[in-house]
Amino acid sequence: MVRLTLRLLTSVAKKAHVQAQMEHYSKFSPSPLSIKQFLDFGMEDGNCPRSFSFLKHELPVRICNIMKEINLLPEKLLQMPSARTVKGWYQQTLEDLLEYEDADEESVEMNSRFTEQLITIRNRHSNVVETMAQAVLEMRESYDYDQNEENNIQYFLNRFYISRISIRMLINQHTLLFGSAPKTHPRHIGSIDPNTDVVAVVADAYDSARFLCDQYYLASPDVEITTINAKDETSNIHIVYVPSHLYHILFELFKNSMRAVMEHKGPSATEYPKIKVLITKGNHDLTIRMSDEGGGIPRSQIDQLFNYMYTTAPTPPKPGVSTIPPLAGYGYGLPISRLYAKYFHGDLTLTSMEGYGTDAMVYLKVLSSEANELLPIYNHAVNRHYRANLPASDWSSPMGGFRSFSMSGGSSRHF
Ligand SMILES: Nc1ncnc2c1ncn2[C@@H]1O[C@H](COP(=O)(O)OP(=O)(O)OP(=O)(O)O)[C@@H](O)[C@H]1O
Ligand SMILES: [Mg+2]
Repeated sequence: MVRLTLRLLTSVAKKAHVQAQMEHYSKFSPSPLSIKQFLDFGMEDGNCPRSFSFLKHELPVRICNIMKEINLLPEKLLQMPSARTVKGWYQQTLEDLLEYEDADEESVEMNSRFTEQLITIRNRHSNVVETMAQAVLEMRESYDYDQNEENNIQYFLNRFYISRISIRMLINQHTLLFGSAPKTHPRHIGSIDPNTDVVAVVADAYDSARFLCDQYYLASPDVEITTINAKDETSNIHIVYVPSHLYHILFELFKNSMRAVMEHKGPSATEYPKIKVLITKGNHDLTIRMSDEGGGIPRSQIDQLFNYMYTTAPTPPKPGVSTIPPLAGYGYGLPISRLYAKYFHGDLTLTSMEGYGTDAMVYLKVLSSEANELLPIYNHAVNRHYRANLPASDWSSPMGGFRSFSMSGGSSRHF
C-alpha cells in the first residue's frame, strides 16, 4: 500500500516536472543552423560532447515549441486515436530527453547512452507523417469541419512536418557522426554531401519512379536532362546539400509527371513525350525545372495542389494489402516536397498550361551559408493565429543562421 502510494506520488511529481519543463523550453526560440554550420561542425570543430551539450537543450526546445501548437489544434482532431498516438510519442520523447538535462557531457558512458537514446527516438517517430494523416482522415470521417478549422490544420501540418524534418536532421547528424554504425558514404558529413552530384540524384529519382510507373502502366516516359552551369561551363553541377532531401523532392515530382503523361496519352499510345529536366546553377540559386506534357492542371486547381489530401488519384490500397507502393494517391507528395525545399530556404512551385503540360520548379540555395533552416517558432502571435487566422511572425528569420554557432545552447528567449 505504502509502496503504491509512493509510486503514485512519484508519477504525479514526474508529470508535473515534465509539464513545467515543457513550459520552460517552449519559451525559447529554436536556433536555426545553416548547412555550412552543420558542415563546419562535422568537419572541423565538432565532437560528441559538444553536440550532446547543444542537443540536450535544442531538441527539447524544438519539441516543446511544436507540442504547444499540437495543443491548439481543434478538439475534434485531438480526440482522434491517431492524434493521441502522435501526441503520446512527443510526450514520451520529451520525457526521455529530460533525463539528460543535468547529464555530464564529458562522460563517455553518458555520451553513448544519449546517442542510443536518439536512435530510439528516431525509430519511435518514423511513422509520424502517416499517423497524423490518418488522424486527419479519422476526423473528416467523424465530423463536419469549417473553413477556419481546415485552414488551421493546413497551417499546423506545414509547421509540424517541417519541425519534424528539422528534428530528424539534428538527430541524423549526431548519430551519423558519432554513432557506432559503419559509414556507408565516406564523402558525406553526416547526411550532407559537400559535393552532391545533382544530375546523379535526378537520374536516381527518375529510375525509382520509372520502376513504379512500369509496374502500373507497363511503359514509362523517357527523361532528357540538360545542365547549364553559369558559374563554370566546364564543370558538372554540384552543390552542398542533403542528397536524401533532394531525392525525395525529385522522386515525388517524377511520379506526378509520369502519371500525368501516361494518363493523358492513354493506354493506346505507342510513344510518350519525354520528361525534360533543366538544371541551372547561378551565383545564388540552383534551379531544377521539370517539364512534362501530361495535359496540365486547370488553373482553378493550382491553389489546392499543396493542400494535404488534395489528390485526383484513386485511394490506394491500405499498406500491407498490396506489395507495390502506389504511384499516387495520398495527396502528400507535393506539400511534403515543398517543405523539404523550404527547409533550407529553397522553394517548390508549379505552373501549368492546361491542355499541354506542367512545369515544376525547384529552387535551392547555392551558398551553404545562405541555406539556413526554416523553423516554426511558437509565440503569442501563433496562438492568436490559431484562434483568429491572423498573419503571424512565426518562422525563424533567414538572418537567424548567421548567429554564431553556439553548441552550448544558443537559443534565444522570445518572451
Ligand atoms: N505534373 C502534373 N501534371 C498534372 N497534374 C499534376 C501534376 N503534379 C501534380 N498533379 C495533380 O496534383 C495532385 C496532387 O499531387 P500530390 O503529388 O500532392 O499527390 P498525389 O500524387 O495525388 O498523391 P501522392 O501523395 O501519392 O503523391 C495530383 O493528384 C494531380 O492531380
Ligand atoms: Mg504525387
